[in-house]
Amino acid sequence: MRPRSLVVVANRLPIDDSVPDGACEWRRSPGGLVSALHPLLRRQPATWVGWAGRSGPAPSLPDIDGVRMVTVPLSDEDIRDHYEGFANATLWPLYHDAVEQPTYHRRWWEAYRRVNQRFADAAAEVADPEAVVWVQDYHLQLVPAMLRERRPDVRIGFFLHVPFPPPELFMQLPRRDALLTGLLGADLIGFQRPQATHNFAQLAARLFDLPATDERITVGDRAVRTGAFPVSIDMAEMATLANQSEVIERARRWRGDLGHPRHVVLSVDRMDYTKGIEQRLKAYSELLADGRVKVHETALVQVAMPSRERVGHYQVLRDRVEREVGRINGEFGRVGEPAVHYLTQPFNRAELAALYRVADVLAATPLRDGMNLVAKEYVAARVDDTGALLLSEFAGAAVELTHAFLVNPHDLDGLKRTLLTALQTPPAELRIRMRAMRSHLRTHDIRAWARAYLTALDETGGLAARLTAD
Ligand code: ADP
Ligand code: G6P
Repeated sequence: MRPRSLVVVANRLPIDDSVPDGACEWRRSPGGLVSALHPLLRRQPATWVGWAGRSGPAPSLPDIDGVRMVTVPLSDEDIRDHYEGFANATLWPLYHDAVEQPTYHRRWWEAYRRVNQRFADAAAEVADPEAVVWVQDYHLQLVPAMLRERRPDVRIGFFLHVPFPPPELFMQLPRRDALLTGLLGADLIGFQRPQATHNFAQLAARLFDLPATDERITVGDRAVRTGAFPVSIDMAEMATLANQSEVIERARRWRGDLGHPRHVVLSVDRMDYTKGIEQRLKAYSELLADGRVKVHETALVQVAMPSRERVGHYQVLRDRVEREVGRINGEFGRVGEPAVHYLTQPFNRAELAALYRVADVLAATPLRDGMNLVAKEYVAARVDDTGALLLSEFAGAAVELTHAFLVNPHDLDGLKRTLLTALQTPPAELRIRMRAMRSHLRTHDIRAWARAYLTALDETGGLAARLTAD
């Protein structure tokens, strides 16, 4: 049998087109989706259908590392109503436990449908006969059914990088039937955690009265399979970076720049209200006020990369975070010694590896998160088995990284207590925990994820073997 070819369809292309023409390079944009897929696709010829990140006609982009880039154009109106509107002001908050109030506008729904159709058409144009088309994330949930309509010959996978909410939340959506119909066009729907497959099965049974288990939903004469495939990182890449002499030297220098504190606590987040940044700052500020953490002993480094900056909730969040950082530094900092080292810049992979090396504790405490790859990257970078991971119970990563210091980020006292415990735990115990997490990630890295998903989707096994070969 001829091996199937692969088309990835995602809202964003993984490249930076802001550099001068012809000089496009792979971009590791902040965001789990690109971080996860990027290391895979360099290995095998594939096509990536996505948006280039700015409005107007689609720029034509060269192939990059054997990956053909097919751009889908979005107008200003599409960006406002589809990307900023329905995707990031309706679906994103709804799928993250409605930690901010989702907004519903009929105009946004129209744009979502229109843009999904455009992505489905682009995928239908470029897919070889019987190709595997792998649709990604919440921006494109109508694409599976739209694509099936045009190209019944292709195999359609869908993977949701964010949580899938319990039915009682999903039922709020004014166009819930259309969304569910869109998803059910796939042959295989992948989620991050088993709870999501369960939520989805319950929803299909409740809304459409379909025979549904956590593994399979019957739609007419078709079976739609579902499953949990927790996404991961390129463990070997991060470990190799962390072992490089320049990275080790940079980490040493940064520790000096921080004033050689006894402890460094690090957080690396997109500036997003799901990440629990405000709750963490509040807990930290109380520890400083109680005198249980002292500025000359402990440095907190908060990297908060601005994200979705035209969406109201994100603007409000950034203002509040910056006000709080200013207040904490004003109140507890000393001359030349801020309490919070606050950075909103992008870092390249080597710099991130150095940051992870500097950190004695990584605090990843989202209120809700599909996975949280930052937590996994930190573990991968701790090549000497040191360091402590403070991890929210509500991150997908908590299902796998059970040796982390798990916390409920809404419980400020628990957050304070667990951070202190992480800071004070003897190295021997930290080593046991870190070793266990590293050993898990070694066998559950990004290639294992792709292998598991693509083997389930393409029963020939050929595609999975090619993408994940050594
Ligand atoms: P999300 O997908 O919600 O953004 P994840 O933690 O799963 O959250 O993934 C974030 C990804 O973005 C990680 O790979 C992380 O290294 C990267 N990232 C976060 N902040 C920055 C930054 N300031 N510069 C470069 N990469 C970043
Ligand atoms: C999360 C989402 C991705 C998204 C990324 C960055 O990881 O699951 O789909 O690409 O955040 O967000 P942005 O809005 O910049 O694409």
